[in-house]
Amino acid sequence: MDKLEILGARKLKGTIHISGSKNAALPILAATILSKKKIILKNLANVKDIETIIKLLESIGSIIKYSKNKNSISIHNKYKLKTFASYNMLKTMRGSFLVLGSMLARYGKAKVSTPGGCSIGVRPIDIHLKALAKLGVSYKIIDGYVHAYSKTKLKGSKIKFPKISVGATENLIIASSMAEGITILSNCAIEPEVKDLVNFINCIGGKIKWIGKRTLKIIGVNNFKEGNYKIMPDRIEAGTYLIAAAVTGGNLKISGINPNIIKTEIDVLRKIGIQIKTKKELIFISGVNKIKNINLKTAPYPGFPTDLQAQLMVLLCKSKKHSIIKEEIFENRFMHVAELNRMGAKIKTKGNKAFIEGNTKFKGAELMATDLRASVSLILAALNAKGKTTINRIYHLDRGYEKLEKKLRKVGAKIRRVS
Ligand code: EPZ
Repeated sequence: MDKLEILGARKLKGTIHISGSKNAALPILAATILSKKKIILKNLANVKDIETIIKLLESIGSIIKYSKNKNSISIHNKYKLKTFASYNMLKTMRGSFLVLGSMLARYGKAKVSTPGGCSIGVRPIDIHLKALAKLGVSYKIIDGYVHAYSKTKLKGSKIKFPKISVGATENLIIASSMAEGITILSNCAIEPEVKDLVNFINCIGGKIKWIGKRTLKIIGVNNFKEGNYKIMPDRIEAGTYLIAAAVTGGNLKISGINPNIIKTEIDVLRKIGIQIKTKKELIFISGVNKIKNINLKTAPYPGFPTDLQAQLMVLLCKSKKHSIIKEEIFENRFMHVAELNRMGAKIKTKGNKAFIEGNTKFKGAELMATDLRASVSLILAALNAKGKTTINRIYHLDRGYEKLEKKLRKVGAKIRRVS
């Protein structure tokens, strides 16, 4: 199994270009099932989760030309597709569960595995299923599979989500875009990735409009057309590299992302003393000697993202004073804490709060990665640490960060993969 070896205490300097967003690509790939015409997607990150959903599409009959090097794909669903997504395709990630909405929209039936257990929390699917029922879908869960069907075409409805959920909002947008009549979805997640999905569906002929901050009006259409769509940049990758610059006291230029979509993250970094300048598609960041403490909680967009919580915690370890992070989205997203403490951090957790003592001098250690964002937080700590860090189980990282070692090496990091 591959490991990463990192020699730390080096300032990063140079330019990092941001890849396409994994979490925008997954629902868009699922939504390609809506159309019988050829769809071309660009800026598709070459990462494991995206490969997995592409395999799923191939397994149900999509005709695919995937050009990994060019970060693009052509998908043609001209023949009847299977309406089955196996456990094998869903055990490693939840993104594929979104094919449920598109299979139901196009064929009125689907058998989709419930997503595999996830280390960051229970992550139920009740909100997805109850909302789909309002479009006329009946379902049963048998032996780990959702068996869903609708005798007639899905019917537009008024649905208010009981809680903000990115995945449930996306599943319902996809399903109702082909339902008969009008659907109004309220209390929607408004993450930029959700907006990218809406833009994609509209680009292939959908009729979806934001009519309020968290409210969507969707007029169902029968036939979707061909399309050529560029996936948005990965805001979590951008935030991760901003923190990499800050934690190493380096100077980075982050290119390929509009700073407005990560305004909250930039504001938080500025608040703790990091110098950041922005231009149209560029962010310039310089690390500083003194990092100020902060108390913060994660929240749905436009709040501070849970997907950047672990990375920010590493930076707060370097503050002179005590900080608190409250994790409001997932119940078990502090698995990086034990490993960071093994590197010298002083962090205690109680329930959904992490108390970060600050003044940490990270030291290299042998570590175990536990999930995607926890893994990358260990890399950030290792980049700051004295000595050598070895990180095991890095397959988590390959799920979501494109060319991570290459990008870091280009800006001066000593990082290598050993098999
Ligand atoms: C998406 O997960 C992202 N995944 C996650 O990114 C991200 O952390 C999360 O949104 C929050 O921003 C993808 O986009 C593929 P939710 P999702 O439904 O859609 C509860 C990463 O590292 N809930 O918004 O699964 C749920 O348990 C990943 O890239 C229910 O109770 O998240 C959680 O507490 C990890 N019932 C909260 O809602 C449901 O039916 C928000 O989850 C659905 C969700």
